[in-house]
Amino acid sequence: SRMTLKITVIGTGYLGATHAAAMAELGFEVLGLDVVPEKVEMLAAGRVPMYEPGLEELLARHVAGIEGSSGRLRFTTSWEEVGAFGDVHFVCVNTPQKHGEYACDMSHVDAAFASLAAVVRDGALVVGKSTVPVGSADRLAELLPEGVELAWNPEFLREGFAVQDTLRPDRIVVGVRSERAEKTLREVYAVPVGEGSPFVVTDFPTAELVKTAANSFLATKISFINAMAEVCEAAGGDVAKLAEAIGHDDRIGAKFLRAGIGFGGGCLPKDIRAFMARAGELGADQALTFLREIDSINMRRRGQMVEMAREALGGSSFLGRRVAVLGATFKPDSDDVRDSPALNVAGQIHLQGGQVTVYDPKGMDNARKVFPTLGYADSAVEAVRGADVVLHLTEWREFRELDPAELASVASSRVILDGRNALDGELWRAAGWIYRAMGRPRS
Ligand code: UDX
Repeated sequence: SRMTLKITVIGTGYLGATHAAAMAELGFEVLGLDVVPEKVEMLAAGRVPMYEPGLEELLARHVAGIEGSSGRLRFTTSWEEVGAFGDVHFVCVNTPQKHGEYACDMSHVDAAFASLAAVVRDGALVVGKSTVPVGSADRLAELLPEGVELAWNPEFLREGFAVQDTLRPDRIVVGVRSERAEKTLREVYAVPVGEGSPFVVTDFPTAELVKTAANSFLATKISFINAMAEVCEAAGGDVAKLAEAIGHDDRIGAKFLRAGIGFGGGCLPKDIRAFMARAGELGADQALTFLREIDSINMRRRGQMVEMAREALGGSSFLGRRVAVLGATFKPDSDDVRDSPALNVAGQIHLQGGQVTVYDPKGMDNARKVFPTLGYADSAVEAVRGADVVLHLTEWREFRELDPAELASVASSRVILDGRNALDGELWRAAGWIYRAMGRPRS
């Protein structure tokens, strides 16, 4: 039966940890490998090194040694163990942006393939899941011993929804060179994961491109609506109404049209940059010059938020002014602050002399690490106490549930700027606040 397939997952970040737990949930025996011993220790104890709703519960159901668990999921730092164990190896290591360059850093992927190649059993299948520049799979296949095949299977999970996206994906995409590889992957993704999910079989370059194309499209949607927000600001229009109205056209769709301070995180910004860099190498850079504009619209929003705050404070300097910042993560339901627009805005104001106090429900530890010189508070109310202006920069549910009247009683000046178009402006105005949102009329 398919359950006799033994699965390894190499790299236990967002993608790998979630994939490993999901595979165990499906009934497979799973061995996860990470080169960082501390991560392996944490996971082996059933703890997740990041905040991801539902993931810790899923792990606890399967990690060997935890009371009441299925025992199907183990973790190791040993490549020998991985090689001896696995019939199918999923490579889930990260591909960050290279320092000071657009291209992505393939060193983790290259190292994983080199280590795996030395230990992998004859007849095993290696499956790449990392987001890589198109052409990588062809190159990586050459590194594997004869008798070991490669497949490419991009992953589309969103942080904050990692578990549900992995167990119930919109689609499964596999790039393969043989029917045997396709058959093995169909077995792995048979019920319940594959149930109802379209299964798209293609070649290596197309499979690699699907991922970068999807993220480029999403980035384009966000920058499109943010460009419309700029026009609305100039013309006196309301971008939220505009988005609602165009979203009723199901060729456009209502999702990913929330204007604000733009996209961040570990994927969209670096993926569109790496895509441009790769297209340049292939002589197809003209095809993607529009992504440069998508990137600059996105980065411009952060500066526009800073200017909105300056204006709210009377238009001159931030020096000595108290600025409360609600939100530090790049999106809600995550503790991830990588390329976070919220933290970037907070940092810009701080560097211009503002007295910034940040509060985030889950991102405080990570924010403190990357930006230790900012002020931090333990709650939204404490952040807002004495503030001359309040910036809402990550749309956590906790912020939508704040009591504007309570905050009005602790703020020094009742001005709130909504960088995510997510608060109920009428509610805030009713409690005596000046509420302003990006791309929307003033009252
Ligand atoms: C993204 C893709 O959605 C996912 O499919 C891929 O696998 C990895 O990259 P993620 O980085 O988790 O996932 O975040 P996502 O939910 O896509 O949001 C990205 C950013 O866009 C966030 O900063 C978010 O605040 C912003 N965003 C999103 C907007 O500004 N407006 C929107 O309408 C939607």
